[in-house]
Amino acid sequence: MDSRSPGDGIDQLNADVAWDTFDPAAYIDHNYRHMLDEDQEIVSIVRRHFSDHFRRNPGRRIAGIDVGAGANLYPALSMLPWCEEITLLDRSAANVVYLKSQVAEYDANWDQFWDVLCEDESYTALGDDPRVRFRQAARVEQGDLFDLAGRRGRWSVGTMFFVAESLSTSHEEFRRGVESFMRALVPGAPFAAAFMEHSRGYDVGDWHFPACDISEADVRECIEGYTGKLETRHIGQPNVVREGYSGMIVAWGLRDPDACVTDSAG
Ligand SMILES: C[S@@+](CC[C@H](N)C(=O)[O-])C[C@H]1O[C@@H](n2cnc3c(N)ncnc32)[C@H](O)[C@@H]1O
Repeated sequence: MDSRSPGDGIDQLNADVAWDTFDPAAYIDHNYRHMLDEDQEIVSIVRRHFSDHFRRNPGRRIAGIDVGAGANLYPALSMLPWCEEITLLDRSAANVVYLKSQVAEYDANWDQFWDVLCEDESYTALGDDPRVRFRQAARVEQGDLFDLAGRRGRWSVGTMFFVAESLSTSHEEFRRGVESFMRALVPGAPFAAAFMEHSRGYDVGDWHFPACDISEADVRECIEGYTGKLETRHIGQPNVVREGYSGMIVAWGLRDPDACVTDSAG
């Protein structure tokens, strides 16, 4: 891995990072083996947002995407009731192996997140075994979110959790990450995204991964231009999951209904 750090004044860019060294087992043990209060709050916000939206706008099943899915299934599960297919996109070969291993029968630790989603009837309506629907819907894809430019307006609901600020130290890549995600959505699509606030990077197993130091104002400023409706909330206390961040930020809303997906004007 590149040894440059933010202190050098040189950004560690996304392409500099050895993403295939990401250890999904270590990541899950640290973050998602037992549900944190922060994740419970985030799941509840996303559940309300998606279920309210689709109650007001019922229709046929749609295509969803979780960008930088990594070793986290709860964003994809949050879209499951409304999706015919869900693309789980990630750059890391190790995370792609993990995600593929979860398609046939996902692990029991994800049940606690599903239980929170089931506080809304849209989720309980899927019956006792959401694994069947997940198996039918999940499409794991190894890919780079910066390459989504060629697939603008492809997905009708989307999530991106702890990715745009956690893929390099660069503010420019943070902004482009958000832009790629938002432009991949059709006009009017509901979305949810989460971010680590003021992160100094994170360890997964034996490896350190970079992060970009962003605030709630940065998140709003970055997303606002792509949305018809946007809400953000600061969640949690500093340094609960690890040292070196000041909380989490969740953002949710709708892709701008008047967005043009074929040009660069947004
Ligand atoms: C901090 S992890 C977040 C994982 C997961 N979304 C979660 O909520 O825990 C960042 C993820 O972004 C992925 N990633 C990094 N750069 C990427 C890129 N250019 N395109 C797609 N995924 C990328 C990594 O492989 C990793 O899975």
